[in-house]
Amino acid sequence: MTAPETEKTSVPEAEALRERALASLTTARARTTLLTSCVEDPDLTAQHSPLMSPLVWDLAHIGNQEEQWLLRAVGGREAMRPEIDGLYDAFEHPRAERPSLPLLPPAEARGYAAEVRGRVVDLLTAADFHGSRLTEAGFAFGMIAQHEQQHDETMLITHQLRRGPQALTAPDPEPVPLFPGPAEVLVPGGPFTMGTSTEPWALDNERPAHPVQVAPFWIDTTPVTNAAYQAFIEDGGYDTERWWTPEGWAHVRQHSLTAPLFWRRDGGQWLRRRFGATEAVPADEPVLHVCWYEADAYARWAGRRLPTEAEWEKAARHDPVSGRSTRYPWGDADPEPDHANLGQRHLRPAPAGSYPAGASPLGVRQLIGDVWEWTSSDFLPYPGFRAFPYKEYSEVFFGSSYKVLRGGSFAVDPVACRGTFRNWDHPIRRQIFSGFRTARSEAV
Ligand code: AVJ
Ligand code: FE
Repeated sequence: MTAPETEKTSVPEAEALRERALASLTTARARTTLLTSCVEDPDLTAQHSPLMSPLVWDLAHIGNQEEQWLLRAVGGREAMRPEIDGLYDAFEHPRAERPSLPLLPPAEARGYAAEVRGRVVDLLTAADFHGSRLTEAGFAFGMIAQHEQQHDETMLITHQLRRGPQALTAPDPEPVPLFPGPAEVLVPGGPFTMGTSTEPWALDNERPAHPVQVAPFWIDTTPVTNAAYQAFIEDGGYDTERWWTPEGWAHVRQHSLTAPLFWRRDGGQWLRRRFGATEAVPADEPVLHVCWYEADAYARWAGRRLPTEAEWEKAARHDPVSGRSTRYPWGDADPEPDHANLGQRHLRPAPAGSYPAGASPLGVRQLIGDVWEWTSSDFLPYPGFRAFPYKEYSEVFFGSSYKVLRGGSFAVDPVACRGTFRNWDHPIRRQIFSGFRTARSEAV
């Protein structure tokens, strides 16, 4: 029996999907290989921070997820090594206990991930991308490419936490002319479409598209810089209870926080450690490695607040001319290097005000790339949310324990970054590549 013409993927369409899926998987694997071959084996099996897995766990977990979703769920194949599934199940073993598990040693982990990939490439050659929600538009392949890239960001965080000599280097972003301003823009009130029902590789928590009313608000045109954040520190921000929520105040007191993670005061200046090197904190760069409590306190000190998640997305996607929500601040085109600092091309954010080609119609810059931006919102499902293809991606995290971050960092690959993409973490987390921008309500 043949399916009706409209449900079929045409031959050239299927060919384009195969190419896109293969290119995305190949890009991810090149990054994984770099991150797991730039240090010796003992550095792959060591735990560099109780917050992180040993790098060799991420490596085999990447292969195991790919095997489960592409070879077994899509391809209908038998498990290659059923005895290892439990070791690489993130819910069975918290990160802190992963080093004590009988993990595959580095050479075996590499061999396993490579063998899975070889079989996936064979499977992809014959894939026709119709017949199930999992394969439609190559979703499962896109999901797995995004999964690997998310772990590549996780592994870069592990590299940043690792003590010892520099193992990774990358060129700095191009110097840019001074951003002409203004410091903030007014986003008009009214409805906009949040989330997506059409982006083929959007994950479950980004769906479905739905209208949201947003009152007029002002938002910073750039992320908050190190210089601005230093002014908060010099003004006694960490010692002034009224800038903090009760939980935030208890947290900074208990852990004696006085500055972003990786910062150290040396006489009159601030230094930071970045991938094994120590350098002066650059004044014009977006602040990095702050937790939600610090971002929230800074905003209150500045007489402002964090944007809600809906405000952030409206600033990033609403086109005031067409009234439509675009895929990115600059429109619907896939990210190019002049739009945004993505993909670990640089191992740092670019100066605030960079990437004019990536600006939104209202002139808001660097919404995509550079630093993940904390929003004031809890991680909650959109109306009409349906877990797909598994509850453990998003659903089990919904609630008030996690705050939403938006926009992606320099460590995120374009395949895992879009105007609708949602990330989340505990409000105390700051080893992640997190910064923020501020907002304020339009005075009535
Ligand atoms: C979306 C970044 C919060 O790393 O915990 C990786 C992504 N999910 N494997 C995480 C993820 C399953 C997730 N974050
Ligand atoms: Fe994972």
